[in-house]
Amino acid sequence: MRKNIVAGNWKMNTTLPEGLALAKDLDAALKGKTVNCDVVIGTPFTHLATVAAAIDTAKIGVAAENCADQEKGAYTGEVSAAMVASTGAKYVILGHSERRAYYHETAEILKTKVNLALANGLTPIFCIGEVLEEREAGKHFEVVEEQIKKSLFDLSVADFGKLVLAYEPVWAIGTGKTASSDQAQEIHAYIRKVIAGKYGQEVADNCSILYGGSCNASNAKELFSKPDVDGGLIGGASLGVDKFLPIIEAF
Ligand code: 13P
Repeated sequence: MRKNIVAGNWKMNTTLPEGLALAKDLDAALKGKTVNCDVVIGTPFTHLATVAAAIDTAKIGVAAENCADQEKGAYTGEVSAAMVASTGAKYVILGHSERRAYYHETAEILKTKVNLALANGLTPIFCIGEVLEEREAGKHFEVVEEQIKKSLFDLSVADFGKLVLAYEPVWAIGTGKTASSDQAQEIHAYIRKVIAGKYGQEVADNCSILYGGSCNASNAKELFSKPDVDGGLIGGASLGVDKFLPIIEAF
């Protein structure tokens, strides 16, 4: 069956010393503790190798927040999936709405990134989600369906089975406004149905679908209690162990 996962996305926060301290604090807080979910932290590229070397990566997986859409070569400033994998990171967050909106990442670009991530042994945490106008127009189901189909539905069954999905309604990101647990359940169940339609019920049932968007210590338990919500992708509340640990312990 699918895994429960609580993943942090630090975004463009923390200097290397600050990020290292945060990772070590989390590592220390989890030492000797039994938790009922997988724990992942997504850090800036500059932190990956140092963080991965400083923590017990069997307990805390490390994720990049992006990777290039090219394998290697003359792409100044880019970081390839192979480079990410060589740091000890095991995951890569792809398709985050901030990357789609601010860096113009299209479904086609994201498809290439997913393929490169998988080819380099990384687990993509693939983000989907609608903006407020789409939600208000009742288009959220078709928006996420399109995002999934356009970037992921050329994958083989075996490769699709390696993905983690994260539903992040854009209107809930960093706004303090969370989707209700019923809204999350409704669309997570829909996403699973879309997957089942293409890859079959078993693949759909095995796919972890995380919720992201102002998830915190106060609402995590309620969100995670829903049958199709398999954990969270946490932004702001992943930047302090005091805020992140209670979310992990919500499972
Ligand atoms: P917040 O938890 O800060 O709303 O961010 C969610 C997010 O974008 C995680 O990827």
